[in-house]
Amino acid sequence: MYKCKSCWYISAVRLGKCPSCWSFWTFEIISDKKWSTSKRKSVSGEVLQSNLDVENIYFSISETEFKRVFTKGIKKWALYLIAWEPGIGKSTILAQIIVDVLSNNETLKVWYFSWEENVSQIMERMERLISFSEKWLINERFKIYHSTVLEDIISTIESEWFDIIVVDSIQTIYSQTIDSPAGSVSQLKYISEKFSEFLKKAWVTGFLVWHITKWGEIAWPKYLEHIVDVVLYLEWDRFWQYRFLRAKKNRFWPSDEVGIFEMTLFGLKPVYDIKDKIIQSAHSFPGSVLTVWVDNWRPVIVWLEVLLNKSSYKYPKRSSIWIDPNRLDLILAILERYMKLKLWFFDIFVNIPWEWNLKDSWLDLALATAIYAQYKGLLIPKDKVFIGEIGLWGQILKTKLHDKRKKEVPDKFDIIDYEKIKNIVELKNILG
Ligand code: TYD
Ligand code: MG
Repeated sequence: MYKCKSCWYISAVRLGKCPSCWSFWTFEIISDKKWSTSKRKSVSGEVLQSNLDVENIYFSISETEFKRVFTKGIKKWALYLIAWEPGIGKSTILAQIIVDVLSNNETLKVWYFSWEENVSQIMERMERLISFSEKWLINERFKIYHSTVLEDIISTIESEWFDIIVVDSIQTIYSQTIDSPAGSVSQLKYISEKFSEFLKKAWVTGFLVWHITKWGEIAWPKYLEHIVDVVLYLEWDRFWQYRFLRAKKNRFWPSDEVGIFEMTLFGLKPVYDIKDKIIQSAHSFPGSVLTVWVDNWRPVIVWLEVLLNKSSYKYPKRSSIWIDPNRLDLILAILERYMKLKLWFFDIFVNIPWEWNLKDSWLDLALATAIYAQYKGLLIPKDKVFIGEIGLWGQILKTKLHDKRKKEVPDKFDIIDYEKIKNIVELKNILG
């Protein structure tokens, strides 16, 4: 195997140009010698497979919103990176994950290294987050170190057995062997490489915190993404009300769902009733329609709004914040052709209130319905949910993850999809 020196991309052949960081002539062989001299040589391959109990490779957690993201639990010996802007709640969510795993795994030990906050700040937070009955958890199984030198950290963790290490954040750690400041590229590269090596060798699970400095700039050095097994983002919605925990990269299972939380005085509270909250907040006006969005595989009910306004421009304006403009053009053409709507007189605005970091483009039927309703001045009952893609002849199709979406809809709601209507022209029968 060959490894790119600048970003850690691994390839079976020696490439001239790295497909990940685009550097030239950076591939070097990962010598067999290096791997075989590892202390844990005997514990590999066959031995591992025959001795390992598959159920036993996770530290169990109980919070259901964590389970959406971690599925069976915290994977042992994996390296997690948790990233987003300062102040979003990374330290808070980590503290909660720690409390959760400590209470579900009797002998588990966690070491927490932090430089940004001192021991009393971290303890104060932990105490605020846990209930009185859980106070016993914070005993010798949880230790905090106020440390910033890599060599000190490594010698500390080498001296005692433990299961999980948290480094909050890796930008504050530096190695004495590298002659550049903490947070610099060469430091980060060296540190993450050392951590990864050490953790894999010692069979320890790691959580590294990474601060993203500027809004929208998800620019950590590429090699970090290759080194870690799972990249988690903790993001917020536009109104700073909710926090979303998503797996951006996951080496072990499909980066499934999203955990939704709300920041309160007592930490991040899981939000189980997001569906009800969204439905309640939906306004009834002609042009507002409920549908089901899929966010990183998690279905979420959202409402979509359309406004048509007589245009005074030569070319009418089409603005869609969360919908692909090509998709919008296609739906407009379908509505003009098959429903005989005269849409070219109007500026058209589409919005989906609440920001979900939306990437799903399968909201055709809801979009068409909202435009139609706004055009005709029809009020769509709040108990109808529209799910479907529309083909070029106006046929209503199944969407990706159709059944998963349908399951998200509460029982008393009426789902309009390809089973109810075969073609967009049948909307008239439903809406009048
Ligand atoms: P923090 O976890 O420190 O964010 P990060 O590690 O990503 O920088 O917390 C972020 C904010 O959340 C902080 O301003 C304080 C607030 N907060 C609460 O409102 N309630 C709480 O229970 C906690 C622990 C923090
Ligand atoms: Mg923090």
